[in-house]
Amino acid sequence: MDTVTNYLDFTKKIALESGSILMGYFGNLESIKNKSTSIDLVTEADIKSEHFLIKSIQKKYPDHTIITEESHLKDKNSDFRWIIDPLDGTTNFVHNLPIFAVSIGLQYKEETILGVVYNPAADKLFYASKGNGAFLNKNKINISLSNTLSESLIVTGFPYLHDDRWDLLFKIFKDCYSKTRGVRRLGAAALDLCFVAMGRFEAFYEFGLKPWDICAGSLIAKEAGANVSDWNGKPYPFSGDRILATNVKVHNEMIEILNKEEFKVFYT
Ligand code: IPD
Ligand code: CA
Ligand code: CA
Repeated sequence: MDTVTNYLDFTKKIALESGSILMGYFGNLESIKNKSTSIDLVTEADIKSEHFLIKSIQKKYPDHTIITEESHLKDKNSDFRWIIDPLDGTTNFVHNLPIFAVSIGLQYKEETILGVVYNPAADKLFYASKGNGAFLNKNKINISLSNTLSESLIVTGFPYLHDDRWDLLFKIFKDCYSKTRGVRRLGAAALDLCFVAMGRFEAFYEFGLKPWDICAGSLIAKEAGANVSDWNGKPYPFSGDRILATNVKVHNEMIEILNKEEFKVFYT
């Protein structure tokens, strides 16, 4: 069996290569399609990046399970499970906004053991393995030291499905805005988590994400010292339904906002 270092080196390599594939299409797209809703997009770049990643992993680790956003692959019942978003931030990508990333997490027996998030437009490679800290381009990164929400800049995102819960998310957004220095919406959840990890944001919360949006980024955030949990402070669901990542110090203040009675509908 490979060591975690072997896995991490391999993952960094394929993330960089997949980033080059994405850059080949950036500003140069020919095909854009819709998925679940008219604003949920997929491009040839998502597909080419994903095919490359699947092929590379299948060649080296043919017995491992792979879960990706755009393909439904057979569950191999392996202890090893790769969780991949081949292009996180597709809407930004389509609009030539350089905030997008490749996100690759590896789990062993349902625990994430490594995560790599690569933002090729800025050549920023974030990575972590369990127990070994978090890094950006070889430099160790750490969470912000701000003590309160009133000294914080935070980040969130919104789901593609615009239902009643989507309306309520704007109520949460307002509550957060009134208690912080500001709330940003950057459009790439994997990078939002990495930006908490490197201290740019004190907190990130979102509803309705998927495992591939959060798997790698949440380990990177944790390894940089963040508290990553469900909106009520319990372990976050693998599904990505609700996630809260903070610099620890503002965690309780965020839970007070997110865990109000009127927001219980997010758990149904
Ligand atoms: C999306 C981004 C966005 C988040 C959406 C995700 P995609 O991923 O992470 O920030 O708000 O909910 O679906 O579709 O660009 O891979
Ligand atoms: Ca995504
Ligand atoms: Ca994606």
